Amino acid sequence: MKKTWKAISLMLMAMMITVFFAGCNTSGGEVSVGIVLPTKDEPRWVQDEERFKEALSGTDYTTEILFSQGSSAKEKENVETLINKGIDVLIICPHDGDAAAASVEAAKKEGITVISYDRLITNTDAVDYYVTFDSLAVGAAQAQYLIDHASGKGVPLYLYAGAASDNNAFLFFQGAWSVLQPKIADGTFKIANSSEAESLKDTAELSRDQLSKIIGQVTTNWDANEAKNKAQTHLTAVSSDMKGDVAVLAPNDGTARSIADVFASDNAVSSFTVTGQDAEKASIQYILDSKQSMTVFKDVRTLVTDAMGMAVDVLDGKTPETTGSYDNGKVEVKAKQTDVIVVDKENVQKELIDSEYYKADEFTGL
Ligand code: BGC
Repeated sequence: MKKTWKAISLMLMAMMITVFFAGCNTSGGEVSVGIVLPTKDEPRWVQDEERFKEALSGTDYTTEILFSQGSSAKEKENVETLINKGIDVLIICPHDGDAAAASVEAAKKEGITVISYDRLITNTDAVDYYVTFDSLAVGAAQAQYLIDHASGKGVPLYLYAGAASDNNAFLFFQGAWSVLQPKIADGTFKIANSSEAESLKDTAELSRDQLSKIIGQVTTNWDANEAKNKAQTHLTAVSSDMKGDVAVLAPNDGTARSIADVFASDNAVSSFTVTGQDAEKASIQYILDSKQSMTVFKDVRTLVTDAMGMAVDVLDGKTPETTGSYDNGKVEVKAKQTDVIVVDKENVQKELIDSEYYKADEFTGL
């Protein structure tokens, strides 16, 4: 009799423990996959969070998503929090590619598999995998759009770039330069706002140092306000032959909208073509309203599926599939890469609405 009671109470206790852990999805308990994103202040990363949540709903994986709010210190704290929750896989999009090395090295010490997400973590061997879009193609597509929409010779060209702490900013600019440079050299474009770019206009392939010099001059720091201030300063500084019909390389949608607003408010600018990236909702509306020319659509659903697919493979003891590799300054990181799509007024419907990325009623003038 006694033995039976003991067995029953042990069984009850085991059941309670199981129920307790099953209930601990994202707070306090064991977490198997930790996800760290750079900031909630840009729609791009809120989009990623939403897409992760969609992909995870109904699955049994215990995950937790933390934001670093544009601070490497906060990012380190987030990674430590997740390490303490026992994660096996860390999916991390760094605020600053170099600074994040210390965080992932701490994770690596605990045997955690590190997946660099969208932005590469640089100068460390503690990154196992990288899931990314084709960032050189992003810049190349922006540049090609400017070429396709320029007419005649001597079109003033305004160059802007992302944050120098983000390896992608280099890839975007490098991709754009590879396409624009021959058109600068042949006089189709004349550079309006960068003496560094001007002095390198005959150099087809830029070194990292040369890219740094140009980016240092025309960086937006991925900040819409900084982009706006720079654009204002540039338009104030140039002579009238740098106005008229102009071309603007803006690195992403957030900066494109604020740069576009500045160009739109200058009476001496008669028309401008301005690029973007991310297919942010606000920019899709800008495109429909003819205030921004194009965006490069990066389907975050694919990136999320690839990152989670890799994480699940790792949890299952399998080796994730990769399609190439990226040099992060220290090691070649195995990577899975996704293509990008150019979107302008002509194909918004097909690429973003018909593909069910967004709903038609989120926009006016479709
Ligand atoms: C991302 C872009 C984003 C930018 C600013 C880049 O690393 O690839 O999609 O617009 O960061 O957050």
